[in-house]
Amino acid sequence: MSLTLGNPLFTRKPIAALGAEDGGKHSFKRTLGPLSLVGLGIGAIIGAGIFSLTGTAAAHDAGPAIVLSFIIAAIGCGFAGLCYSELASMIPVAGSAYTYAYASLGELVAWIIGWELTLEYAMGAATVSVSWSTYLNKLLAGWGLALPHALVASPFDPVPGLINLPAVLIIVLASLVLIRGISESAKVNGAIVALKVTVVLVVIVVGAFYVHPANWHPFIPANTGKFGDFGWSGVARGASTVFFAYIGFDAVSTAAQETKDPGRDMPIGMMGSLAICTVLYIAFALVLTGLLPYTQLGSAAPVADAIGQTPFPILRSAVNIGAIAGLTSVILVMLLGQSRVFYSMSRDGLLPKIFSAVHPTFRTPWMSNILFMVFTGVLGGLLPIKELGEITSMGTLLAFVIVCVGVLVLRRVDPDRVRVFRAPWVPFVPIAGILVCGGMMAALPLLTWEMLMVWLALGMVVYLSYSRFHSHMRGYR
Ligand code: ALA
Repeated sequence: MSLTLGNPLFTRKPIAALGAEDGGKHSFKRTLGPLSLVGLGIGAIIGAGIFSLTGTAAAHDAGPAIVLSFIIAAIGCGFAGLCYSELASMIPVAGSAYTYAYASLGELVAWIIGWELTLEYAMGAATVSVSWSTYLNKLLAGWGLALPHALVASPFDPVPGLINLPAVLIIVLASLVLIRGISESAKVNGAIVALKVTVVLVVIVVGAFYVHPANWHPFIPANTGKFGDFGWSGVARGASTVFFAYIGFDAVSTAAQETKDPGRDMPIGMMGSLAICTVLYIAFALVLTGLLPYTQLGSAAPVADAIGQTPFPILRSAVNIGAIAGLTSVILVMLLGQSRVFYSMSRDGLLPKIFSAVHPTFRTPWMSNILFMVFTGVLGGLLPIKELGEITSMGTLLAFVIVCVGVLVLRRVDPDRVRVFRAPWVPFVPIAGILVCGGMMAALPLLTWEMLMVWLALGMVVYLSYSRFHSHMRGYR
């Protein structure tokens, strides 16, 4: 088979055909406005990254300069976010980067990105479920009720356990909430977001009074002679680590079909949540590295340790509760995004119909929710957090790069289509997005690259043996 541009694999889906085939029979309720979308974004963003990774990255990679790492990662996300917003405002149907790729880059690339978005959403939810389990057990331990190690650890952890039971439990609970309905889910999400943002703000404001500026010196500790161990290379490595903390703002795009005015609201939801979190993260990282010497931030609970430096021990429990709430909403939105991406792929014929079966009463893709509950639950229950987190970042960065390419291509092949939101300074912004996100991909370990290749190869097998023959776009070829 030759892969030329005349090949049907490169058939682009006409934008007018996106989501139009359905006649409302399979449609969701349009209930979300700009505020809910910003909430959805923050719900997906603030989680394991800020509550666990900031401290480790400061202790091992960048020292107080982890603040700079946060800024670099934010710049990469900002460029990608502008591109995402442009595509989302011109293609207002569910499916995230997958749908955009279908319209701009053709079926094969769309398939690849839809398939690998599973790495962002399902793996992301699994990663965060493991972190959730750690925080829950810490809270339980405070009440003398800690669960035995065998029930809170992966069989592949350095000290192996049997299964991470709380991780499985939270995946099941979040899936049930999602099956119940998006409007209800948005309400639950709103309450959780309010709680976790409050906790983050309290840590910043109270912590600011107790920082020791001496802890910020040296701001960029000298490199130890090894790439990535402090110095500027440490700042770069830190950026690819804390990138995880920003993952999620794009999940807003997967709710486009449930949005009242997607063209206007999608960019507000994505860029708004990203901007708010960037400001919070930078302030948070400054306070954290000011409260304790960076060498002491490598523990499992860096935020609680740092806030323990203030005369308000109750803040430790507040941090634990805020983290549990925060992580819960991340899982919720990630699983929501996952089911919506596979819904779209199934509606396009690329995946079996079961992924687009909508519940008659709740109007949610409940079978998809159940299948991903099982898939994600198994991953969260059995795999270690480090590998899960790295493959999540890899998948997300790849999606960002493809979205930036998509903007470049669509500006060329479809320049006249209305773009309610236009990314500024094209082609600078998409090209810079490709470079910064590509740079962060390059900084990830070899094992993560290998896992990405295996997952993509599996995807190609499914595409060539099933999707290609069931695609609704066969009629367009
Ligand atoms: N950004 C999300 C988190 O940090 C994935 O948990």
